[in-house]
Amino acid sequence: MNLIVLGPPGAGKGTQCVKVAKSFDLVQLSTGEMLRSEVESRSELGIEVKNILDMGDLVPDDMVISMLSNRMDSYNSVKGFIFDGFPRTTAQASALDKMLVEKHQKMDHVIQLEVDEAAIIERLSGRFSCSRCGAGYHNLYKKPKVDKRCDICGAEEFSRRSDDNPETVRSRLVAYREQTAPILPFYEDKGILKYVNGMKSMNEVFDNIKEILSGR
Ligand code: AP5
Repeated sequence: MNLIVLGPPGAGKGTQCVKVAKSFDLVQLSTGEMLRSEVESRSELGIEVKNILDMGDLVPDDMVISMLSNRMDSYNSVKGFIFDGFPRTTAQASALDKMLVEKHQKMDHVIQLEVDEAAIIERLSGRFSCSRCGAGYHNLYKKPKVDKRCDICGAEEFSRRSDDNPETVRSRLVAYREQTAPILPFYEDKGILKYVNGMKSMNEVFDNIKEILSGR
């Protein structure tokens, strides 16, 4: 099974993709995570894209498509992929279709998480993650069980994303509205697009996604 989780910045894509990947034994492919790790490792690609990420703009299609295609090729036998933050443009959506055909696969589900813009700002301004294992948290909605200690690995250092400041979030929202939202009709026409209310609690959103994936 292959699926895409779409939605504006802070809609909860990453949060849900981790849960779905674990529950359905899928490989999560997050282009945002891949790009941030390129920046962190100061690779050639990372140096090229750092400013783009800081500005909240989209990285050029050819770079993201080739990065994702290489990552997909690095897996031999998997039950399926869950695409987190990809595709984000019509060119990326067409390229993904082509890649799947070449691998004799298809896209089974596209989930669009719907959230209010006010919630987006609140979610992104409260988001932080473990500096060691990357587990995600929120000041209000998902605090570590023990204060200042990661639930997963026990580390005591956390960090915030540099693109979660209000100005960059505004640019990310513009990029979403102008370049990513227009891909929804592409999947609507294929009859595989489902809308999920992302304003519910994390567990309720997960339950709704599970119902869709299980065909209930
Ligand atoms: P990316 O990393 O993909 O960022 P994004 O799309 O802006 O999405 P986020 O990761 O910010 O949010 P999310 O929806 O995953 O929410 P989360 O689950 O963390 O991309 C970053 C940048 O990389 C882009 O701006 C672009 O420059 C570049 N890029 C990436 N892919 C690209 C591509 N394909 N093409 C071109 N450029 C690309 O949740 C947010 C917070 O809310 C968390 O703290 C969480 O705990 C909390 N939360 C989640 N769900 C709930 C809930 N139901 N209730 C309450 N709180 C919740």
